[in-house]
Amino acid sequence: MKILGIESSCDETAAAVVQDGECILSNVVATQIPFHKKYNGVVPEIAGRKHIEWILPVVKQALSDANLTLSDIDAFAAVNRPGLMGALLVGTTFAKTLAFTCDKPFLAINHLEAHLYASSLHTPSEEPKKKPQYPYIGLLVSGGHTIIALIKDFNEIEVLGTTIDDAIGETFDKVSKFYGLGYPGGAVIDKLAAKGNPKAAQFPMPNLKGDHHRYDVSYSGLKTGAINQCNQFWNGEYEQNTENLAAAFQYAACKILVDKLLLACADYSINTVVVGGGVAANSALRTMLTSREDINFIFPPLNLCGDNAAQVAGVAYQRLMNGERSSPDTTALPRITEFRHETNRQLRQKNSDKTGKN
Ligand code: KG4
Ligand code: ZN
Repeated sequence: MKILGIESSCDETAAAVVQDGECILSNVVATQIPFHKKYNGVVPEIAGRKHIEWILPVVKQALSDANLTLSDIDAFAAVNRPGLMGALLVGTTFAKTLAFTCDKPFLAINHLEAHLYASSLHTPSEEPKKKPQYPYIGLLVSGGHTIIALIKDFNEIEVLGTTIDDAIGETFDKVSKFYGLGYPGGAVIDKLAAKGNPKAAQFPMPNLKGDHHRYDVSYSGLKTGAINQCNQFWNGEYEQNTENLAAAFQYAACKILVDKLLLACADYSINTVVVGGGVAANSALRTMLTSREDINFIFPPLNLCGDNAAQVAGVAYQRLMNGERSSPDTTALPRITEFRHETNRQLRQKNSDKTGKN
């Protein structure tokens, strides 16, 4: 079964064809980064307009790279949540229209679920990937999300921890923007950090109190420290240059996450972790995690860490096989209720019941 997937949740216009949920027949990603670079961040209005311009040529390219025509496609899928409203609408409407025209199923896919599926995909020349056994831990690290989740089954996900403020990718991007290092900041800092010393500065680590924060992380302190109070944290033995700053910041950003992830693995006796999202490409994160030989860390290849449509088509296949298809009136949802931290939500509810405030 061949599924055409579309991704347009943020600043990449992407389309891919995946066979039987695993084998990537084509994978086209048109990045809008050059158009957002001068603003040091994604401009939603520009993103929506570029998706409209590019969606048709990108889909045509995905079909032609796979040596297929529309009539060969068995189902159409698009990310419909979460993301930028105008951007999501383009891919969702395009996929729905193709499905309607070809009289084939349409599947609306969660972007976060798609990221956690990326490591299951392979190219025609690679061997199929071994599926992780449930339960495992999912680590989702991107520009907008930082989530540690216990994946108990296909549709049973319990979020154990999230960030209480900024996402890890956003923190890389903001620090890079402040120092004028480049955009997007994650890859730039990763490259600079390779030439720096992680011990050159020691940033304070968050100390989140309370059992409900056991697996939560916080990045606002690190961001403020790296941007506004950096001088206080330099280690006098090392030169104050951007390479050293990048290495020390990157080390702290990864350590915050790794400590909580390993705590969750120990508490739940889990020894398999599936990683996904743009920050999964980070070399320090990969090194820190894979140094733990008792835990099997499954990363996507570097080209599938960021936003792509192959992961969308992959999830769509699993959902279709599960008997699902999305209704033609499915719309885009910028925010979602899935992947929420239950404990925090229950606690907020308890407090609002007490105070009468929401
Ligand atoms: O998953 P993604 O492509 O888009 C979102 O869903 O947000 O993730 C983008 C994020 C950006 O914040 C970017 O700076 C970060 O991933 N990123 C990295 C690296 N490559 C991309 N962060 C750290 N190290 C990297 N090598
Ligand atoms: Zn993403």
